[in-house]
Amino acid sequence: MANTNYEKYKSDGSVQGNVLEWFDARFPATSMWRAHLSEYYAPKNFNFLYFFGSLAILVLVIQVVTGIFLVMHYKPDASLNASGIPVAFASVEYIMRDVPWGWLIRYMHSTGASAFFIVVYMHMYRGLIYGSYRQPRELIWIFGSLIFLCLMAEAFMGYLLPWGQMSYWGAQVIVNLFSAIPLVGEPLSIWVRGDFVIGDATLNRFFSFHVIAVPLVLIGLVAAHILALHEVGSNNPDGIEIKKKKDANGIPLDGIPFHPYYTVKDIAVVVGFLIVFSIIVFFAPEGGGYFLEYNNFIPADPLKTPPHIAPVWYFTPYYSMLRAMVWPLLGLDAKFWGVVLMGAGVLVIAFLPWLDKSPVKSIRYRGPIYKGFLAAFLVSFFMLGYLGAQPPSPASEVLSQIGTLVYFAFFLAMPWYTKIDKYKPEPERVTFK
Ligand code: HEM
Repeated sequence: MANTNYEKYKSDGSVQGNVLEWFDARFPATSMWRAHLSEYYAPKNFNFLYFFGSLAILVLVIQVVTGIFLVMHYKPDASLNASGIPVAFASVEYIMRDVPWGWLIRYMHSTGASAFFIVVYMHMYRGLIYGSYRQPRELIWIFGSLIFLCLMAEAFMGYLLPWGQMSYWGAQVIVNLFSAIPLVGEPLSIWVRGDFVIGDATLNRFFSFHVIAVPLVLIGLVAAHILALHEVGSNNPDGIEIKKKKDANGIPLDGIPFHPYYTVKDIAVVVGFLIVFSIIVFFAPEGGGYFLEYNNFIPADPLKTPPHIAPVWYFTPYYSMLRAMVWPLLGLDAKFWGVVLMGAGVLVIAFLPWLDKSPVKSIRYRGPIYKGFLAAFLVSFFMLGYLGAQPPSPASEVLSQIGTLVYFAFFLAMPWYTKIDKYKPEPERVTFK
């Protein structure tokens, strides 16, 4: 447990010293600073994959701040204005064209959503290959999995708000999925929409969830995620516990204070990230139709279904799983099983700590079977992602089925193949060049 009984700050007699002493006597400022920064000992062998956690915090802040400014001009109203354009759509166009710097705030927010998923997918991939989900970090992983779920809900509801064709029809397709659930499906989907079709009631409740409810939960989960991490300490690319080897003062031999050593590196990484992010925001904010779909620049029209409805790229691997299921089972619709498969695809991630039986954590010391399964998993994940963005075809149906099978095999066969696989002995101390 991080020590919280640090000596309180003693003033040197200066004005700012007195203020600090007054403050520290009433708030755990010194102890928090030490426990989480200057005396939080992080392994000295972190590599670049370890920066995505800090970047995720940065993107979260960008989303919250740009979101606050967007809400100042955005109107969640599906009724038509004098020109026959939905008010919500027109308010986004107003932000883009008339509000000073509105275009920048809007593009930062919409590109930020994709950046969030890129960063979080990289962050999860790091956890996967270094076994960061393994004991004693199960709870960090569970909080992370809940964050991932919240993030998906947040992005889905945010996408409805501009009230474009894709907002409208994407939400229509996804909310309709609830109706596949036996007995309660139909009333449930009406309850979620607040209407028989996606309408003003849906827009208002999605707005409320998107700007208040989900962000609150998300921020709470991130705090819990980091507290849990600091309770047990960080993993590292070797997957060994640095707390097992401590010096006479109880400091891990392979640990360095997070501040200043990693805060300085984080600043450099943040600058690099912001350069890349700015290039995308200024020169390709729609990401070639992947970050903002072209159809979403057309106002929502409940009478005109677009020929091809596809979710944004970060949902497409799971959307492919939904489409892969074409067989009715046990008297239930194929659509129902598709929904189950899609949900299971997200939930199974949370069970990793109990599926992995390998004696080693990091990919560096794992055997060929694990590496083979991991490679197949990655290929299937990208393939599912690609197929989910394409119009359905007989070939893509078969490929989605194979991809889904490989995706689940990676998780569900893990207790078996991690037990029989070869592995290399882990080093005593972290390896550091
Ligand atoms: C808003 C999203 C998230 C934020 C802001 C966030 C933040 C962080 C931060 C700051 C760290 C410490 C630095 C690092 O190790 O990279 C961390 C560690 C970790 N996160 Fe997240 N995280 C998020 C989402 C997730 C998700 C979705 C998962 C997995 C499902 C996850 C799993 C982990 C794990 C296992 C660690 C410990 C890594 C280790 O010690 O090797 N996180 N997170």
